[in-house]
Amino acid sequence: MIYLKTPDEINTMEKANKILAEIFELVAEVIEEGMSAYDLDKFVEDEIKKRGALPAFKGYNGYPSATCVSVNEEVIHGLPRRDKIFKNGDIVSLDVGTVYDGYYGDAARTYIIGEADERTRELYRVTKEALDIGISRAIVGNRIGDISSAIQNHVESHGFSVIRDFVGHGIGRNLHEAPQIPNYGSPGRGPLIMEGMTLAIEPMTSMGDWRVRILDGWTVVTVDGSRSAHFEDTIAVLRDRVRILSRL
Ligand code: MF3
Ligand code: CO
Repeated sequence: MIYLKTPDEINTMEKANKILAEIFELVAEVIEEGMSAYDLDKFVEDEIKKRGALPAFKGYNGYPSATCVSVNEEVIHGLPRRDKIFKNGDIVSLDVGTVYDGYYGDAARTYIIGEADERTRELYRVTKEALDIGISRAIVGNRIGDISSAIQNHVESHGFSVIRDFVGHGIGRNLHEAPQIPNYGSPGRGPLIMEGMTLAIEPMTSMGDWRVRILDGWTVVTVDGSRSAHFEDTIAVLRDRVRILSRL
């Protein structure tokens, strides 16, 4: 069941998501070599609460923290542990969810710590671009496969892979709603995109193979140990354009 949202609902979702956009800008200023994922998580949780929202991930399916902090070969759902200390050259993805007035926000950004090698910087850039390209396909009359294939083509054209075991999703009164949004697929396939859909689009990529495994019940890592990146935005499909809710 796909729940289409009214303009009022979309406005509330924008509040939940703008909080994330603000926090990601603050994180860009404070994240640095020597900081732990635990400290980053506490910083973000505090900023969510200051803004009158709740951390959506904490307690979700038993997840213990407000954020997922995934470093290098970690793809998603990285636990923000005290002994996960950022080093120069690391690629770190931060995934955060909020609940505000009964509606969810969900977004992720990748950060580079200090100076990373060129291929890492390219993975960062291409994944970020893939999100923008995917979002640009979220228009009325297209199908979900148009988003998926655009993301896949962009990532693979640079010699990187898209992760297949995890997907983007509808979002609203629930963190995860229909439809699923894979980061690979065929144009013209899948559910029709309609006015009022609210979607979390989230390319997850790797420098090597797309196969992943789960380490500690949560942390998803690439099997081949290759580095990974992740960007996510929550968007609303309007009649004649896309509204990105999780950007300033
Ligand atoms: N951000 C993830 C997603 O987009 C959800 C995190 S799962 C949790 O689906 F358990 F960590 F909350
Ligand atoms: Co998500």
